Amino acid sequence: MKGVILAGGLGTRLYPLTFATNKHLLPVYDKPMIYYPIQTLVKAGIKEILVVVSGPHSGHYIHVLKNGKEFGINHLEFAYQEKPDGGIADALLLAEDFSDGKPIVAILGDNTTDADISKEAKDFKNGALVFLKKVVDAKRFGVPRFDRDKQTIIEILEKPKEPPSDYAVTGLYMYDKNVFDYVRRCKSSWRGELEITEVNNFYIKAKKLRWAELKGYWLDAGTFDTLLLGNLYWAKKNNPGRLKMLMKELGLL
Ligand code: G1P
Repeated sequence: MKGVILAGGLGTRLYPLTFATNKHLLPVYDKPMIYYPIQTLVKAGIKEILVVVSGPHSGHYIHVLKNGKEFGINHLEFAYQEKPDGGIADALLLAEDFSDGKPIVAILGDNTTDADISKEAKDFKNGALVFLKKVVDAKRFGVPRFDRDKQTIIEILEKPKEPPSDYAVTGLYMYDKNVFDYVRRCKSSWRGELEITEVNNFYIKAKKLRWAELKGYWLDAGTFDTLLLGNLYWAKKNNPGRLKMLMKELGLL
């Protein structure tokens, strides 16, 4: 499978940080945020990667990622999304040529996880697969409504006021080649974007959407609070003693 990292957008929820650079290049402990989705893909054996960029800081990526060799990427491509606020589905459309009719794994550049998706990537044949994670604040995400059997997703709602379950649809998706036709059928949403949730709902209608629970830590680092949490999580994971020492120094422990 090939991988697509969606790393455009204006990151307005993180202004003024994102006046300086693109959200996905902001630090998460000791690495730029985008290193984490790259690691997730490379760990799953996906070494042909397209990074979709947009917005005023698009040029910053090349200095950071270069040709991708130091991450174990065999082939790194960039695509430029003309409308930085066009939405995730709009960005995905730029991966059509790159995908060459084969299935893709798409991951949002602000989603950091230590989950291993190699098995799902190896086994994926067709349709769509979304990864779910139990969360305390489902309102912020795409949220699945399950059938009575609690197994089949019958609908996904984007940022519902009253979430029908306490699961978030994470920003990791696997799609077959039909994804691009579904994107072309999407209509602009209330927030003026082509929503990935609408694409997933097309797969649900076609009875082609499966789901798996994402095992391990997962976080969407799109707000100040979650960015801070992401920094703390990775600091603790990669350097536990040091974080403890710093917390003590601050009087937080
Ligand atoms: C996007 C998707 C949402 C998903 C989330 C995961 O939200 O629209 O369905 O749950 O990513 O990170 P956004 O970051 O655009 O608010």
